[in-house]
Amino acid sequence: MKIFLDTADAGKIKKYAEMGMVDGVTTNPTLILKSGRKQEDATREICKLVEGPVSAEGNAERAEDIVKEGEVFASWAKNVVVKVPMTPEGLKAVRALSKKGIKTNVTLVFTPAQALLAAKAGATFVSPFVGRLDDIGEDGMAIVEEIMKIYRNYGYRTQVIVASVRSVAHVVRAAATGADIATVPSNVMDEMFAHKLTDAGIRKFHDDWEAAKKLS
Ligand code: G3P
Repeated sequence: MKIFLDTADAGKIKKYAEMGMVDGVTTNPTLILKSGRKQEDATREICKLVEGPVSAEGNAERAEDIVKEGEVFASWAKNVVVKVPMTPEGLKAVRALSKKGIKTNVTLVFTPAQALLAAKAGATFVSPFVGRLDDIGEDGMAIVEEIMKIYRNYGYRTQVIVASVRSVAHVVRAAATGADIATVPSNVMDEMFAHKLTDAGIRKFHDDWEAAKKLS
């Protein structure tokens, strides 16, 4: 499974890119605001740090405006993907952008029916928001399982990005389901590395290493 980082923080992207963990990046207006940088500056920098797809999201609502915005984003770097909202106008824009060879990521997807429509429109990626579904008492990952099944049934090439990831369990279930990608916030990335028995084991081996040096 590919791992994308769900952040616009260049420092965090650099940290994980150096470990070879970052297959791509997703951003949204909230993450851009958090980064404290202008969208164009942040996106251009991220696209230099990461070879894989970097999703950039705009604010337009009408299809022709989404396309115009998308063309601007795509001019920033060759790995920019245009994030498009899951609306009828959004899907019209997806079709137009895909004809122009511009990659798209249909965002704010909450049902398998929406994911089916996004694939039919020719989306490169689709982003079901699992955490936000869990927040309202639904099982977000169950939606992903259904989407994967539907895409496999008909050979859709749209790739599924498990988004709104809140826990390591989400990432593990995404991989077990066979999702193409999970886009992971940096706090969850940090947790993926950790286990108390790993830390305890390192401490014990370290202590024993030092003690073994004193052997004659
Ligand atoms: O990239 C969009 C998505 O991952 C947002 O997550 O935590 O705001 O629901 P969240």
